[in-house]
Amino acid sequence: MRAVVYKGPEKVAVEEVDDPKIEHPADAIIRLTSTAICGSDLHMYEGRTVEKPGKILGHEPLGVIEEVGSAVYSYKKGDRVVVNFNVACGHCMNCVMGFPSACLTIRSETAGGAFGYAKMGKYAGAQAEKLRVPFADFNCTKLPGKPNDKWEHDFVMLADIFPTGFFATKLAFVMPGFPVAVFGAGPVGLLAAYSAILQGAGQVFVVDHIPERLKLAKSIGAIPIDFTMSDPVAQIEALRAEFSVVDTLLPGEEKIESLMSSISKLAGSAGIQLDVDRSDPVKVIQALRAVNPMVAQSLLPGEEKMKGVMSGIDAVGYQALDRDDPSRENPTQVISDLVRLINPTGHLALIGVYTADDPGAANAHARKGEFMLPLGELWEKGMTVGTGQTPVKNFIILLRDLIIAGKANPGFIVSHRISFDEVPDAYRKFARREGGYTKVIIDPAK
Ligand SMILES: NC(=O)c1ccc[n+]([C@@H]2O[C@H](COP(=O)([O-])OP(=O)(O)OC[C@H]3O[C@@H](n4cnc5c(N)ncnc54)[C@H](O)[C@@H]3O)[C@@H](O)[C@H]2O)c1
Ligand SMILES: [Zn+2]
Ligand SMILES: [Zn+2]
Repeated sequence: MRAVVYKGPEKVAVEEVDDPKIEHPADAIIRLTSTAICGSDLHMYEGRTVEKPGKILGHEPLGVIEEVGSAVYSYKKGDRVVVNFNVACGHCMNCVMGFPSACLTIRSETAGGAFGYAKMGKYAGAQAEKLRVPFADFNCTKLPGKPNDKWEHDFVMLADIFPTGFFATKLAFVMPGFPVAVFGAGPVGLLAAYSAILQGAGQVFVVDHIPERLKLAKSIGAIPIDFTMSDPVAQIEALRAEFSVVDTLLPGEEKIESLMSSISKLAGSAGIQLDVDRSDPVKVIQALRAVNPMVAQSLLPGEEKMKGVMSGIDAVGYQALDRDDPSRENPTQVISDLVRLINPTGHLALIGVYTADDPGAANAHARKGEFMLPLGELWEKGMTVGTGQTPVKNFIILLRDLIIAGKANPGFIVSHRISFDEVPDAYRKFARREGGYTKVIIDPAK
């Protein structure tokens, strides 16, 4: 079969390799109909993990069961399935406690395994025509429909990034009405924002510098923030200050003319003469805010201090770009920004990857994943911090059913569907995030 093989930093090749075989009675072999490239694959592609050349990459598989081992009892040939990126047994203590991401039996070194990933066991990856799935009863999730139907791109998002975006909102304790900031508008950040919106979050800000990605954020109702314009923390705080007034407007009052009449009325009743440039909505809103008794009335003294967000999500990880000079990395840029932005008692989710072995890091500490952090401010604000691999199985069934019910379409982020021949070029472009490469799906039949 054909498969995408890691050949060393910035090199992948599509090679003929042996077909996978049933190695254990609980295995299944899946023929893939869609298999995605993930931002996580780029850590290996860029030589920023300890992975050696030779591994088949990929961990986002969707397909049809081709063969099952004698112990597989829930699935048969022909079933359509999505496979979670974690490889887990389903019966160890951690799996049973809801952490299949930290399965204790799946590899000898430590907890947790994954397909096609550095330091996650010897499991071959999913960017191939076929995949061997251990403990298939646990690691597959059954799907309706047929290959290449209207759900194909929504369903392949279930292998990793839709549950990962959703898990980020759980780590960040997103609640209805909470203001949320997501740093990173890659697939994970976009689906974290999408998950927050699905759960009724208040304002959801998405920070990045790539126009196509910020546009996608806007298309789902998030507020795009370009970090190259100015400090994103200051941008979000300014918008939060305006929000309290926009929030109190009656339907139609967002129109500038009616805003102006509200302002005049309010100003008049307060005995204030206003002279505001009507073509500038920000000034209009500020003026309204200045005279709007509803704003003053809705805040108790001191509440103006909650000017940031309650939930902050780092969907970037250790390869974060420096804001002042985006041509270089600054691994703690996003954590530092979020610690400033999150309100006292708020919640920080680090869903972007940090690793303890980064051969390509700038210095000896960073090579071990050791960084300077604003721990004092984090502690003084009483923040919670959540991290780690997503336990995909915990969310996959509920998110699948949201898709089937027509209430979620995570496939909106897919930008390219390509053949194996196009894979090396796609890795190059995706790594540079150029040409609108947001989420790339490989079609093994193409
Ligand atoms: N925890 C998990 O289980 C899990 C699962 C999947 C992916 N991930 C990780 O999530 C992260 C994001 O994945 P992705 O597929 O969306 O990757 P991606 O690389 O496509 O997206 C990252 C985005 O962050 C932006 N960015 C860089 N520096 C920034 C900064 N200083 N401020 C704001 N934005 C900045 C980039 O422009 C890019 O758009 C990666 O680290 C990936 O490994 C974690
Ligand atoms: Zn992934
Ligand atoms: Zn287990």
